[in-house]
Amino acid sequence: MLFESSRLALRKISVDDIQIYHKWRNNLEVMYSTSPYLDVYSSDETESFVNNVILGSQTSKSYIMIDKETKVNIGIVSLINIDYKNQNAECIIDIGEKEYWGQGYGAEGLGLLLDYAFFELNLHRISLKVYSFNEKAIRLYERIGFQKEGVSRESLFRNNHWHDIIHMGVLKEEYTLTQE
Ligand SMILES: CC(C)(COP(=O)(O)OP(=O)(O)OC[C@H]1O[C@@H](n2cnc3c(N)ncnc32)[C@H](O)[C@@H]1OP(=O)(O)O)[C@@H](O)C(=O)NCCC(=O)NCCS
Repeated sequence: MLFESSRLALRKISVDDIQIYHKWRNNLEVMYSTSPYLDVYSSDETESFVNNVILGSQTSKSYIMIDKETKVNIGIVSLINIDYKNQNAECIIDIGEKEYWGQGYGAEGLGLLLDYAFFELNLHRISLKVYSFNEKAIRLYERIGFQKEGVSRESLFRNNHWHDIIHMGVLKEEYTLTQE
């Protein structure tokens, strides 16, 4: 079913989610492997980011993943830079609640987003960027059908070291993880 899998449901992010997003955004363990800029963000900074970048964008759609049973908000999935003419977009997944890592929720949440992208929006290609040290995420993306397409060498500076950014992509016919 669209937007609903066995354990998760997606709901569109709203201004009411600024607090929960602020909590995830300030969790360095979560942000280390996903954000290019680590900082201690003030509530005003997060409010402005959510309002301007997430809610204000005409070319992106962001959803909060909810554990259907407990109603806990576990993280966020987004399609960004949606290009309807060329039928492509980028995707992002961040599980903000660490206790939900490593139990298949990533695959389930991403599956919901990609089912929507491919089978409802009729997109042809989804791409993403992932840091080279994020092996868990790379394995997840490969399981779903993403292929490594390129590398931006030493383009992330983190913890006093340079890291590569891996570019990955999946075409509709290569996508293997449907929640249908
Ligand atoms: C990266 C991230 C999205 C991965 O999601 P996840 O839910 O932790 O990953 P999955 O559960 O799908 O897969 C992780 C492991 O759990 C295992 N798993 C899958 N289904 C499972 C289940 N039902 N029960 C138990 N374990 C399961 C998988 O086999 C996988 O093992 P492997 O990594 O050894 O192959 C998540 O950890 C996260 O949000 N991290 C922080 C932010 C981040 O890095 N985002 C990505 C930026 S590119």
